[in-house]
Amino acid sequence: MKVLMINGSPKVRGNTARALDEMRTVFEAEGVEVECVQVGNQAVRGCVACNGCAKKGACVFDDVVNELAPKFEAADGLVVGSPVYYGSANATLVAVLDRLFYSMQFDATMKVGAAVAVARRGGLTATFDELNKYFTISGMPVASGQYWNGVHGRLPGEAEQDGEGLQQMRTLARNMTFLMRSIELGREKYGLPEREEGIWTHFMR
Ligand SMILES: Cc1cc2nc3c(=O)[nH]c(=O)nc-3n(C[C@H](O)[C@H](O)[C@H](O)COP(=O)(O)O)c2cc1C
Repeated sequence: MKVLMINGSPKVRGNTARALDEMRTVFEAEGVEVECVQVGNQAVRGCVACNGCAKKGACVFDDVVNELAPKFEAADGLVVGSPVYYGSANATLVAVLDRLFYSMQFDATMKVGAAVAVARRGGLTATFDELNKYFTISGMPVASGQYWNGVHGRLPGEAEQDGEGLQQMRTLARNMTFLMRSIELGREKYGLPEREEGIWTHFMR
């Protein structure tokens, strides 16, 4: 069982990393393999809506997005962590997620998603909602914890003082592990749900 973590912070040892590390400890104790990719410190451009990915089978901009795609395909779950910037996810992370979810050529149905937001004070739930939208448009069940997953802290290391936030991370990782295992059993017993051909009406008659 594998989990891919994407850290949207530019800081390798920032508060988002601290929050994700708390989850990693639980995953590793449960025998779940973890790989974490830091994207917030990379130069990543946004989607240019060229639709070249449909032909190429990957994003036309060959950067970390195309490295993440096979890792995501091989994973049973995806954790996305972001620092809150102006009440929203970090812009680099949004660029990565837009391009990854738009260009990926595999079906993410029943891979489990979990979103984690990290902020000094405000914008946690808006960012949490924003990140969950990538999962819920993709047939991915969302793992939940004991609150709307968020950790407080401003300067690197301050997250250490947020005992409740770190507990949320542990609960989230345990619940996510349970969900991934349950889905694996369900897949063996019942198979994945039938998927219809997509209907696109674009709000037109
Ligand atoms: C450009 C910028 C915008 C920010 N906006 C917010 C915000 O809207 N709300 C908030 O509580 N903290 C805000 N912060 C603080 C960060 O969310 C906070 O320092 C967080 O711990 C950073 O996580 P990191 O250490 O993983 O990078 C902002 C920080 C930066 C650099």
